[in-house]
Amino acid sequence: MILERKSYMDFKQIAKDFRSERGVPEEPAIAELEQLNELFALAQAGANEIGTKLENLDSEFQVKHDHNPIHHIEERIKSVQSLMKKLDKKGLDRRVENIEDNISDVAGLRVVTNYLDDIYLVEKILVNQSDVTLLKRKDYVKNPKPSGYRSLHLVVSVPVFQASGSQDVKVEIQIRTVGMDMWASLEHKLRYKTDINQELVDQYGSNLQEYSDELEEIETKMQKIYQHLNEDGEIKRS
Ligand code: GTP
Ligand code: MG
Repeated sequence: MILERKSYMDFKQIAKDFRSERGVPEEPAIAELEQLNELFALAQAGANEIGTKLENLDSEFQVKHDHNPIHHIEERIKSVQSLMKKLDKKGLDRRVENIEDNISDVAGLRVVTNYLDDIYLVEKILVNQSDVTLLKRKDYVKNPKPSGYRSLHLVVSVPVFQASGSQDVKVEIQIRTVGMDMWASLEHKLRYKTDINQELVDQYGSNLQEYSDELEEIETKMQKIYQHLNEDGEIKRS
């Protein structure tokens, strides 16, 4: 299994979090709470749609090419707290309408691929599907961030079919290799670590910057070996 699915969404908790984030004078009306529930339900449905497409894509490759492009997929729906923080940052009122109109990563998927080329393979096959529309693309693989961060970021929209008809839902997808994922987790940890001194943070930050390039080199070399072995038909399933 490459994607572990969450079977349950706690709408009561979502409403409670929203009430407490809004504060007493701004107590949301029932209609806005319903709108919030719908937003979360749609985000989950959108993530499910894209998750299924990615699982199918991986299975097809396994069968036809004896290769799994995807190592695993992580799914997350942004918390009410993080959504409010993002609205604050954008200078927008804490209203559900503003989330709908201004935030494109309520639903997020992280696709961790086995090899570098798999990043673009996954992108191509996903984006080529007739019901998937590419809205935004940032290639931090070819153009890494100053920190050394690498990943391909996409925002797509996908129709979700409901009793009342179909609705387009935005899903943010981060596609990266196993190496890039390991790097990003460690760098993230470093960034949020508050109990070590700044000098050490800077030192490790600059180490990580270098390692990002080294990882790229190693992943490229390893991919070449893998491709060579695959051509010779010597490799068995990964
Ligand atoms: P926001 O989504 O509002 O943050 O803006 P944006 O869409 O411009 O964001 P960006 O494309 O920079 O990517 C945001 C996400 O990518 C973050 O939530 C992280 O998961 C990841 N990310 C971006 N830059 C870094 C980085 O330097 N280090 C690590 N570890 N992760 C990063
Ligand atoms: Mg984002």
